[in-house]
Amino acid sequence: MTLAIRPLSPAVGAEISGVDLARLSDAGFATIEKAWTDHSVLLFRDQKLSDDDLLAFSRRLGELDPPPNQERGRQSPPGYPDVYVVSNVLDDKGDPIGALGAGEAVWHTDMSYLDLPPDASMLHALEIPPAGGNTWFCGMQAAADALPAELRAALGTRRIKHDGTYNSGGYLRQGVTPTDDPHKAPGAWHPALLRHPGNGRATLYLGRRRNSYIEGLSAAESEALLDRVWAHVTEPRFTYEHHWRVGDLLLWDNRSTMHRRDPFDGAARRVMHRTQIKGRARPIPYSLPAAA
Ligand code: OGA
Ligand code: MN
Repeated sequence: MTLAIRPLSPAVGAEISGVDLARLSDAGFATIEKAWTDHSVLLFRDQKLSDDDLLAFSRRLGELDPPPNQERGRQSPPGYPDVYVVSNVLDDKGDPIGALGAGEAVWHTDMSYLDLPPDASMLHALEIPPAGGNTWFCGMQAAADALPAELRAALGTRRIKHDGTYNSGGYLRQGVTPTDDPHKAPGAWHPALLRHPGNGRATLYLGRRRNSYIEGLSAAESEALLDRVWAHVTEPRFTYEHHWRVGDLLLWDNRSTMHRRDPFDGAARRVMHRTQIKGRARPIPYSLPAAA
């Protein structure tokens, strides 16, 4: 097999063909890691990975991060606490086996409500509905490069509050008090414009829209600026729409992308297993040089 790299869209993503992630050489892994830094999202088709294979590949990228606290807490397959299940399927007691249901998951980057968010997440598709449930990615480095000067100046070195109250499916995280006040909400502050430690490029880091707030502005000013920045980053020229097939593995960089998911028919089955890789360093502002 020969490893090949093909871009998926002008702004973000590449497909890597000619690899079996369960039998990957060190040289193959090095090529993949570089492609991931260059393209932010990598697609591997036709993978047949057990949870052990998924964990073994994940560990090559770094230390595993525990799954997010979702609407029903942390949902993992029995014996695999580092694997997170995204699914609408119900078990024999009628409880969901995973998170996010069958509705839309709005634009977000994973777990940025933490001070040290995971650098990477990956999803392995085990069951896919006949229609719907596509996952969209947005290239936040291309979006940062094309950010109108006026919006860039307005953001400057300001930080954004990333909300930890609701997940992308609109569900309240388990044990969290509902609020729509960004000042009361649990979460973390991160610079709006980051420097990506892997490639030195600027990346817009927005987290999620709900309960977001830009430091130092009035609530109304913050909302108005956020609306303009969000309208910019979600322009079609920065996005890639992924149509899933069973066996796909998608690996993404949470610092330089956001993603969202289309809804699908709740009577159909969709089962994905996810892992996430611990952040190596807190996000740094673009105004600062990358650490040596
Ligand atoms: C995730 C997520 C979207 C999807 O697992 O982080 O947002 O397509 N999933 O299931
Ligand atoms: Mn997500």
